[in-house]
Formats: sequence, C-alpha cells, structure tokens
Amino acid sequence: MEISNVLQVCLCSFLVLSYGVGVEASHQIYRNLESLQSTPTQKQPYRTGYHFQPPKNWINGPLIYKGIYHLFYQYNPLDAVWGNIVWAHTTSVDLVNWIHHDPAIYPSKPFDENGCWSGSATILPGNKPVIMYTGIDLQNRQVQNIALPKNLSDPFLREWIKPPQNPLMVPTEMNGINASSFRDPTTAWQGPDGRWRLIIGNKVRRRGRAILYRSKDFFHWVKSQHPLHSMKDTGMWECPDFFPVSTISKLGLDTSVISPSAKHVLKVSLDDTKREYYTIGTYYPVKDKYVPDFGSVDNGSGLRYDYGKFYASKTFFDSDKNRRILWGWINESSTATLDRMKGWSGVQAIPREIWLDKSRRQLVQWPVAEIKKLRVKGVHLPSTKLKGGSVVKISGVTASQADVEVTFDLPKWEKAEIFDPSWVNPELLCSEKEASKRGSVGPFGLLVLASKGLEEQTAVFFRIFKDQKSNSYVMLMCSDQSRSSLIEQDLDKTTYGAFLNVDPAHGKLSLRTLVDNVLQIDHSIVESFGGEGKTCITSRVYPKLAIGDRAQLHVFNNGTESIRITSLSAWSMKRATMY
Ligand SMILES: *[C@@H]1O[C@H](CO)[C@@H](O)[C@H](O)[C@H]1NC(C)=O
Ligand SMILES: *[C@@H]1O[C@H](CO)[C@@H](O)[C@H](O)[C@H]1NC(C)=O
Ligand SMILES: *[C@@H]1O[C@H](CO)[C@@H](O)[C@H](O)[C@H]1NC(C)=O
Ligand SMILES: *[C@@H]1O[C@H](CO)[C@@H](O)[C@H](O)[C@H]1NC(C)=O
Ligand SMILES: *[C@@H]1O[C@H](CO)[C@@H](O)[C@H](O)[C@H]1NC(C)=O
Repeated sequence: MEISNVLQVCLCSFLVLSYGVGVEASHQIYRNLESLQSTPTQKQPYRTGYHFQPPKNWINGPLIYKGIYHLFYQYNPLDAVWGNIVWAHTTSVDLVNWIHHDPAIYPSKPFDENGCWSGSATILPGNKPVIMYTGIDLQNRQVQNIALPKNLSDPFLREWIKPPQNPLMVPTEMNGINASSFRDPTTAWQGPDGRWRLIIGNKVRRRGRAILYRSKDFFHWVKSQHPLHSMKDTGMWECPDFFPVSTISKLGLDTSVISPSAKHVLKVSLDDTKREYYTIGTYYPVKDKYVPDFGSVDNGSGLRYDYGKFYASKTFFDSDKNRRILWGWINESSTATLDRMKGWSGVQAIPREIWLDKSRRQLVQWPVAEIKKLRVKGVHLPSTKLKGGSVVKISGVTASQADVEVTFDLPKWEKAEIFDPSWVNPELLCSEKEASKRGSVGPFGLLVLASKGLEEQTAVFFRIFKDQKSNSYVMLMCSDQSRSSLIEQDLDKTTYGAFLNVDPAHGKLSLRTLVDNVLQIDHSIVESFGGEGKTCITSRVYPKLAIGDRAQLHVFNNGTESIRITSLSAWSMKRATMY
C-alpha cells in the first residue's frame, strides 16, 4: 500500500486542571513505567457504547497513519484527574473499533522528566512519521522535543525513541519566550522554499500568539521574528491547528498544500475560557503570515467548531480517503471528586469530516461515514405534520444509544417572532427561550434521553425568528441540559446555543443527533449537527431515570405554528469494540 502524509497526534494538556477539587497544584511525575506497562488494559469492561474512551482515567487528543489510524491522547495512568501525563496510544482500522497499546511516549529524559504534553506528528518524505511534543524539563520549562518510531516496519508504531538532539526548541531570555507559555506544536507543513514550518501556542501578557519556527531538516529549528498570527486579549493559545481547506471540493487537503483553490484555517483553544475558536483566511507563505478574512473574527466572539463541550481538538489529513478529520475531547460536566469515584473522565467526540462551506465563511462537519457501521434496527417516519404543542414518541430504537436524523421543511418566517437585534448572545437566548417557552415558529426538534413522564429530557431544538432589517430568517439552535438530570450532584448544566446559517433557498432544516449512554449508566453524550453540519453542539448529560431501556426519544414542536417533518430516521447503535 502506498501511503504518504500525515501521522497526526494531538495531545492537548492542561484540560482538567480547572477541575479544581483535589488536583495538585503541580502535576506529579510518574517515574516507574514498568508497573504501568503491565496494567492489563485488555480486560477492562467497556464504558462508552461507541465513543472512544481510554481504559481508565481521563483522556484527550487524537490520531492517524498508514492504513491504520493512530490515536494518541493525554493520559494520566495514576488518576482520573490531570497529572503524570504520558502519551497513551491506540489504533484502529475503521475509526470505530480500537485496540489499546502501551504508552508511546512517557517521561524518561531530562527534557521531559516532568511530563510529556501535547504535540503533533508529521510524515516526512519516505513515509517517516515524526512526533513533535512539549516536554516539561527538569527546570519545569516547556520545551519542544521529537520522537521517532523505533521500527518503521511495525505498522502499529508501538515504540518511539527520543534522539539525543532533544530538546529542539527552548524558551530563553534571548528569544523572550515565557517558559510556562510555550506548548502544543502543530503538524509541520512545507513551504515553497522546501523548509518545514510549525507553530506553537504562546502568549505575551494577554496577547495570544502562534509562534512560528522553520527548519530544513526537522532537527534545527529557527524561530521566526514574527508569529504566524496573534490576537490581543485572548490569553494563552493552546492546541493551535493550521491547515488548508479546498474552496472547490469537500475533499481534504494535505497540510502542506498551498493553492489558489485553498483557504487556510487557524484554530486556537483558549486556555482562559476553555473554548475553541477558528478563523478562515489567507496564508502568505513568503512572509509566513496568516490573515483572517474580512468578517472572520479572531477572538472569543468568533466561530466555534462546537458550541458545547469540545476542547483540545486537532485535525489530520487522512491520505487514504482524502479527507480531513477532526477529533475533539469531550470533558465531563461533573466534579473532579466524582470523576475520581467513577475512575475515569473525558471521552473523544466521534471523529468528524470537516470541509469549507460553499459560502466560504465557515466550516461544515459531519460524523465519519464509518460510524454508520454501528447502526442496527432503524425506524423511519414518513412525512408528518407536527402540530404546535405536540410531542411524538419514536418507538423501536434503543433511545439511550442511537443515531437520529430528522429533516424539517423550513417553515415560513413571516409568522415568526421578530428578532431583537440586541440578542447577540445565542447561549443566553437559548436559556431564556428554552424548550418549555412556547414560541410561534419553534421551539421544535428532538427530546433525547427523556424519562417516561418527561421529568428528565434533553431538548435539542431550533427556534426561528424574523429579522426585520434583512427581511429574512434568524435561526437559533439550542441544546438544553437544564432538565437533563434529576441526580443530586453538582453538575454543569449550561444551556448551549448558536446561530445557524442555513440558506433559505434550500428549504430544509436538518438535525442529526448521536446519543451514547455510557455503559447504560447515568452518563451520556449527546452530539448534535444542525443544518447538515453547519452548527454543532456536544453536551454531557447525567440522567437518573432516562437510562438504558427506560430512555425515550421524541420529536416535538412547542411553537404555535405547525411544522412538517420531511423525514425522520433513527437507528439503535451497536457497541464498538475497544480492547
Ligand atoms: C519490526 O517490526 C516488524 C513488524 O512488526 C517485526 O517483524 C520485526 O521483528 C521488528 N523488528 C525489530 C528489530 O523489532
Ligand atoms: C510567565 O507566565 C506565567 C504564567 O502565565 C506567569 O505567571 C509569569 O509571570 C510569566 N513570566 C514572565 C517573565 O512574564
Ligand atoms: C472581538 O473583537 C471584536 C471587534 O474587535 C469586538 O467587538 C468584540 O468585543 C471582541 N470579543 C471579545 C470576546 O473579545
Ligand atoms: C471541564 O468541565 C468542568 C465542569 O463543567 C469545567 O469546570 C472545566 O472548565 C472544563 N474544562 C475544559 C477544558 O473544558
Ligand atoms: C411546551 O410548553 C409548555 C408551556 O410552556 C410546557 O409546559 C411544556 O413542557 C413544553 N413542552 C416541551 C416539550 O418542552
């Protein structure tokens, strides 16, 4: 098999520090890997039905390579909270079923003795993968190191070696880089001059920056005078990601592609708010500058991959199938104490294919096609009118582990409520106008993980407004966790929301929701894709009643206007294998 390109890895660190409770101020060092390597990961019971989850403890960060997808993730072998970070490793041939391996990279040298944090991989010419990662050295500085596969004939790339040239990039007084704000190198790309480039997350005071480095040989790196991009008042940039997207096709592009029919995307994870933002813009390879397009806002008011729980994400180019795939980390909504009790925390979102929307103003995401392999037993509803105030139960699927696709006829906006231009915060709007507040056109959508009497329910819905200025629609998409759980625990029940930019000429409004109840117990993931993937919202919910066989699925309309369902299909989902 002829395979080129990117092996990609991301491991964004830091994530669970803010769990607060019980987390040590500075992470511990895990010195004895012998015992870790003999941990029998193979016999762990499954916890998530089909979302990737590590054998124990919390995870984050993604994957790929060579006909075999590689997922590396930040993993604490000792605890369910952040600390002792190693690069755990798992592989898959289909992005659905996974095999766990021993950690790929773990603290062993002066340049990473205090932790092996996030990084990325690049495939060098001759199909040679290399990982660049942030090590925490003996002086607790963040430095950048590389690791190379020990045996290129091993398709599982199980063993990695750290060459003696490490560390390759260090913060110094001369280069003015703060040793505690220098992390998460990206996949490298090759410029027209043949030199490799990559960016590293950084900040100077409150200005977030993507520091650029260049190299001819991947060993000697020279810092560029200017960052690739920076933005005031955004704080530390973690897990930056920089990649091209095609303006003429949904197919993905290799990270080094620079072409007139490509735009570039820069994504950053803001440490301060634990939210991710991206812009679409132009990359100028000679000046090594990235300039967001006019209107593409590069701060905490900009576009997000996902308006729910989704952090430390990374994309990679899947050269086998010519697509770019996005992985994100879904945090818990519970406290660190609870995470410790259950012995793990965090799940990976279903990998998503990602491409540029026709408008060129935003990205579109869709679960990888492989996930359909898990569909069993579908039910299909014919075109149906949903009167205002109705709730219709969808029977015949395992509502706690399901994939639901519903399409509505785009209702007439003339009858919609008038949009108030002061409503600039969609999240706030969703919590004010939640599913139980009747409107005229909407709220309508799905009630997932609902209990028999609807005491528990997670509403994923739309609301349509009339914008008097543009004489057109304003569409709001919400995921409401406020009534998701009756368990008496300190849970984060934020209602998520975002505006959705659907072309009215299209005449349809779609919603796909993936529900995965974790081992039929009280922890679930609800991943929703509105408008064929234009707006995505992922949430964690912790139902007490609506679990296993007792969970129900409904479609509802709580507006006064009727809504027509063009089609509705729902499938029970099998479990994926992870061993
Ligand atoms: C390298 O990996 C291949 C394939 O797994 C294996 O057959 C070979 O023995 C390995 N070589 C070494 C030196 O471990
Ligand atoms: C470096 O960053 C840390 C963490 O943000 C901060 O506490 C420290 O003051 C910074 N040091 C300098 C010299 O700017
Ligand atoms: C982002 O920038 C815009 C324009 O400069 C500004 O209006 C907005 O308040 C900023 N948002 C944040 C969260 O800083
Ligand atoms: C994870 O979730 C907890 C609880 O909701 C929250 O306090 C924390 O900020 C989150 N961290 C990230 C990285 O999303
Ligand atoms: C619809 O609105 C009514 C009145 O506010 C409320 O009692 C009911 O719970 C709502 N239905 C749903 C499915 O939210």
